[in-house]
Amino acid sequence: MKDIILRTENLCVNYGKKDILKNIDASFEKNKITALIGPSGCGKSTFLKSLNKTVEEYGGKISGNICINGSDMLSMPLQKIRNTIGMVFQTPVVFPFSIYKNMTYAPIYYGEKNKERLDEIVVSNLKKSGLYDEVKENLNMQASKLSGGQQQRLVIARCLTVDPEIILLDEPCSALDIKNTAHIEKMLLELKSEYTIIIVTHNLAQAKRIADNVIFMEEGTIVETGTPDEIFNHPVDSRTQEYIMYMKN
Ligand SMILES: Nc1ncnc2c1ncn2[C@@H]1O[C@H](COP(=O)(O)OP(=O)(O)OP(=O)(O)O)[C@@H](O)[C@H]1O
Ligand SMILES: [Mg+2]
Repeated sequence: MKDIILRTENLCVNYGKKDILKNIDASFEKNKITALIGPSGCGKSTFLKSLNKTVEEYGGKISGNICINGSDMLSMPLQKIRNTIGMVFQTPVVFPFSIYKNMTYAPIYYGEKNKERLDEIVVSNLKKSGLYDEVKENLNMQASKLSGGQQQRLVIARCLTVDPEIILLDEPCSALDIKNTAHIEKMLLELKSEYTIIIVTHNLAQAKRIADNVIFMEEGTIVETGTPDEIFNHPVDSRTQEYIMYMKN
């Protein structure tokens, strides 16, 4: 049986009069990577942002249900939602502080004062992001001096410092070169033993390489869900077939 950590039922999101997501029923397996794919404007980012309610900060209104571990997520305190479901955007936003301070910002905010414990949080999470060896001599360097790929890994590592269960990533590699993309993909494959990962990507080859499950969306609805092999090699719906063909050429 599949171990489902997050489920949406009849999820609808609208921005004012614009209905963007229409009755989305989706489920996400624990400790798996699920890739959201689909044409530009179909609502992938809106869907991702609804999964930890950030969409409301962009003027989106949510209706329907979202359950995490069987409990109603939408009625949970916002802080708990954000700590349980972290989010990483396309362009890494490092805080204008040192690498160390980026990594301790949230733990200190939530009351951690013990220096040894803070050091441990910094080291263990930088290790998880594969960044530790690259920055261990320079933890007091301004984070903005890191390369784009390193900044993206730092942002992912920072998101882990509050111990989330689920990580949402919106096209985290689209501004990165092949080498940095490979770094992030390797990291995500390692992270999935501890976290559940939901990633929006335009890069179908990337979805093939890392995803366990793929959701194909069009015009605010889910057209088809399956394994990468099912979606990319044996799509059932003609809309999926057309999209895959289009993206191949
Ligand atoms: N804050 C907003 N206010 C109003 N409409 C919005 C807002 N954000 C997104 N939209 C609209 O919602 C629709 C879906 O946008 P969304 O960003 O979710 O698409 P997407 O699939 O992520 O596209 P892309 O692949 O280009 O990133 C689009 O029509 C977009 O114009
Ligand atoms: Mg988007």
